[in-house]
Order: sequence, then structure tokens, then C-alpha cells
Amino acid sequence: MESPTHDCDTSMGHRHGWALRIAVACLATAVTLICRVRHDFGMSSLATYELEGHVATITYNRPDSLNAVNAEMRRDLNEAFARFRDDQDAWVGIVTGAGKAFCSGADIRAGIGSTGEFAGTFWEKPTVNSFESGWEIFKPVIAAVNGYCLGYGLTLVTWCDFVIASEDAEFGFPEVRLGVPAMVGAIRLPQRINWQYAMEMILTGERVGAARAKEIGLAGWVVPHDQLMNEARALADRLLAAAPLAARASKEVAVRTQSLSPVEAIRFAETMRIVATATEDAKEGLRAAGEGRAPRWQAR
Ligand code: COA
Repeated sequence: MESPTHDCDTSMGHRHGWALRIAVACLATAVTLICRVRHDFGMSSLATYELEGHVATITYNRPDSLNAVNAEMRRDLNEAFARFRDDQDAWVGIVTGAGKAFCSGADIRAGIGSTGEFAGTFWEKPTVNSFESGWEIFKPVIAAVNGYCLGYGLTLVTWCDFVIASEDAEFGFPEVRLGVPAMVGAIRLPQRINWQYAMEMILTGERVGAARAKEIGLAGWVVPHDQLMNEARALADRLLAAAPLAARASKEVAVRTQSLSPVEAIRFAETMRIVATATEDAKEGLRAAGEGRAPRWQAR
């Protein structure tokens, strides 16, 4: 017959065993979560970068000023976009804003400092010095527009591949009302939407709401405000079904061939086809199709 002491010892042993198992399980969950959602704690907080699975979310994070872009924000945004471009685990990007605005444009209280400082004189300065001014990032980017989207904010949106607008979103280029032109916006908006609607926005400086933005082709979708990020994530998940490098090759061909003659466009696209078909993922795609299973992409 087992003594009570023995019983007691045994139950203590069980308790310790369970405590250990629970501790291990908690640790494993924490590690999984940390691996799944990667925050960059080192980066200044004016533009945050968060990776969940293969989806990176970049968030304008200066809500008290409606995410107006000052020199510090410019630096942080550039860091976040460079990080997204270079992060091999980031296959799709979502850009959104903290608080009630997406981005209210240049910081009108910062004066000339709102674009930040770049090395060199005017003649040497690269004018393509940010994502919105045209950095080439061939990973798909979704703008999840949660509120005011003005000036620089709208310029950035016109460089995104997809625009999902909350019902609360408002879009505009107010520059002319401040006495200055909307330069990159003036280049890009007429490439995105019908000429007269682009001119209406650029030359009046008036804002349009989400429904009108969809009507003129500026926004692809309008969704209830509280569903915005779910919808953006759902679109990102659909994009993850594509082989990442095949998607990037497709986007690069779409971007570059805009300004090429038909023959050069075909030559470039066919060359890219050969390059992209030589990837491991292209082999995996064919293998998976032959075996009737879902492909496992590696972005290689
Ligand atoms: N630069 C600097 N600060 C800005 C800003 C900007 N572009 N947009 C908003 N803010 C600040 C406001 O000054 C205010 O700060 P405060 O609380 O310290 O006074 C705060 O953000 C909230 O803005 P507020 O104007 O009170 O909000 P609203 O809902 O009444 O109006 C806007 C929202 C976007 C219509 C209005 O803020 C606005 O017109 N902003 C300027 C937009 C602009 O011209 N951008 C430049 C493009 S080139």
C-alpha cells in the first residue's frame, strides 16, 4: 500500500510536471508569436514596420499631427520602405495610418524641412528619394486608407498597386490652395485616373470622399471602417497564393513597359520570362500542379 507521503510526493511530482509543461507551452507560444509578428523595436516610431507571416505592414505613426510628414517621419518612412524592399520574408506590403488619418501630407508647420535632408546640392540630389517619389519596389503594395489622405499621402497611394478605402477616407491634393504645385502627384494621378478627374483634383485642391474616389477609379474598394485592415489582409492573403518572384517579375514588366516601344516591351518581357522561369519556385509550381497539391513558395 502506498503511503500518503508517497502519494503526496507523487502529486507534487505531477504538479511540477504540469507546471513545467505549462511553462514550456507558454514559452513555445511566445516564441511562435514573436516569430510570426516581427516588430522592429529599434526603429523610431514615426513609421512602424511589422511583419506577420509574409505580410509587412507599414504604419504612419504620428496621429497627433494626422500623420503629417516632417523630416523625422520622412527618414522613418524611408527606413521602413527600404526594409520592406530588402526583407526576404516580406512578400506583400500594406500601408496604413495610425489614428483618424492616413496621412495629411507635408507638415505645414515644418516649412522646408518637411522633405528631409539629402546629401548633395540640388543638381546632384536624387529626386527619386522615397517610395512616393518612385522607389522601385516590385513587391505588391496595398494602401489601406483609413482617413484623410492628402498631399504626400495621396502621392504615395498613387504608387501603390491596390487602394482599399474606409468609408471615412478623403483624398486630395491641397497644394494649390497653399500656393504650391503638387508635382509628383501631377505626374502620376493622370496615369491612374481619367484626365479631367485628375485635373479636377489637382487644380481645385478639393477633397473627394471614398465613394467618389471609387467612382473615378482612385480607390478599388470601399469598405466599412472597422473592416479595413481585415479586407487589406484578405487581399494580401490572396496575393500570397502567387509565386513571389513570378509576381515581382510581372509587376516589373507592367511598370517598365509603360514607357517602352511595343518591340522593346516584348523583348524585355520575354527576357524576364526566361529569368523568372529559371527560379526554384517555377519548378515547384509545375511540380505541384503535376502532383495535384498546393505549391510551397520560397521566393527563390
Ligand atoms: N501639417 C502639420 N500639422 C497638421 C497637418 C499638416 N499637414 N494636418 C493636420 N495637422 C495637425 C493640426 O495642426 C492639428 O494639430 P493641433 O491639435 O496641435 O492643433 C492636428 O493635426 C489635428 O488637425 P485638425 O485640423 O484639428 O483636424 P481636422 O479634422 O479639423 O482637419 C484636415 C483635418 C486634414 C482637413 C486639416 O488638418 C488640414 O487641412 N490639414 C492640412 C492639410 C494640408 O494642407 N496638407 C499639406 C499638403 S501639401
